[in-house]
Amino acid sequence: MTNSAQTKFNVGGLLLDRPFKIRRLGHFGFNMVNMEEGVRFYTELLGFKVSDNNDMGRRAKSPEQIAGLGDRRGWFMRYGTDHHAFVIFNKRIREALNPEARAKPELTINQITWQVGNLREIGNAIKWFGDRGVKIQRSGRDMPGSNWHTYIYDPDGHTNELYYGIEQVGWNGHSKPKIMYNRRFDEAPELPQMSEFEEVQQALKDGVDLTSGYRHVDRLPATYDVDGILLPRPFKIVRIGPVSLFVKDVAAAETFYRDTLGFIPTEEVTWRGHRCVFMRANTEHHSLALYPLALREMLGLSLHSTCMAFGLQLANYQQLRNAVRFLSDHGARVTDKVPPELYPGIDYAAHVFDPDGHCLQLYYYMEQVGWDGKPRPKEVRPKVSPGEWPEVLEPMSDTYQGEPYLGPWG
Ligand SMILES: [Fe+2]
Repeated sequence: MTNSAQTKFNVGGLLLDRPFKIRRLGHFGFNMVNMEEGVRFYTELLGFKVSDNNDMGRRAKSPEQIAGLGDRRGWFMRYGTDHHAFVIFNKRIREALNPEARAKPELTINQITWQVGNLREIGNAIKWFGDRGVKIQRSGRDMPGSNWHTYIYDPDGHTNELYYGIEQVGWNGHSKPKIMYNRRFDEAPELPQMSEFEEVQQALKDGVDLTSGYRHVDRLPATYDVDGILLPRPFKIVRIGPVSLFVKDVAAAETFYRDTLGFIPTEEVTWRGHRCVFMRANTEHHSLALYPLALREMLGLSLHSTCMAFGLQLANYQQLRNAVRFLSDHGARVTDKVPPELYPGIDYAAHVFDPDGHCLQLYYYMEQVGWDGKPRPKEVRPKVSPGEWPEVLEPMSDTYQGEPYLGPWG
């Protein structure tokens, strides 16, 4: 085993403690029971666009193995140009096909997926995990999505994926044609690899129709004026995360995310005697929050999942207010019971439930942490009462800062 306390790794000319650096949350997913309602909720109500489906049932030994278990499609969805930022898979089919999934039914998070800097970082991460005895679930390059990746587990069994180079869906809204899935890898590739542009050149030479991939069309009419653009709902998701987890042992999970994946601790909170930890990969206050399982019942959150919440950042405060009204009007359940002390770095947030009971944390502002690594002192943060929505807010020093959304909203 490598002595990681001393060994340094050259990452793009900089000597780091591990051979990769996570830059941001790339995508996330749930395993759901209520598939039809789930797809409707995430597409029609929240505005995710479907980018592709795949067939989960193809791994069944016989049709009987998954008969009567519902939709066999995996759903890949996007809010921007990343081919997928969110996925839904059928929990009952997963459990029918996979004894590990059956053994841990509370792991309704399908994956927590982080972008690193380049393909070499993925290759070196795979070797480093191997050296350190970190169990690798699998490595390679999956389609749909075309991202090069490796998968490992956290101490509670949550799947974490590191990736480079997810497919970008551009102005015409078409995903990559399935006929281009020939560059799929089910093991770590030799480096270097040809660029994606060269793959497209090859496809053009082969006469592939580049507009033959999936293209989502919204079923709802675009009737809302959303800051100057007509959209089918009165808000726009501009970023995903943070991912908030309930874990058996906060210290063990903290050690894994800090030392194995390289997350930076930002802040910790003790709430009613329970220690909660907030970590970041970039300038956001946190993209990962760890809470002890004991809080799940105290907060009235769904006992079926170890997901405390999945964050969705909306473009601004006005849109957040509009979203709360829109989602309530469309029958979504909203709770005011999650206390703001449990989400430092975010001011106003709405906690909304999906059809399986997963909690979604809608917010618009994320505190930004600068070069000195210090979060804003608690006493100068705004005081927020859940369920109260002032008409306008005073700006803060880091209002509208952090990674901006690229491209048009619809
Ligand atoms: Fe993934």
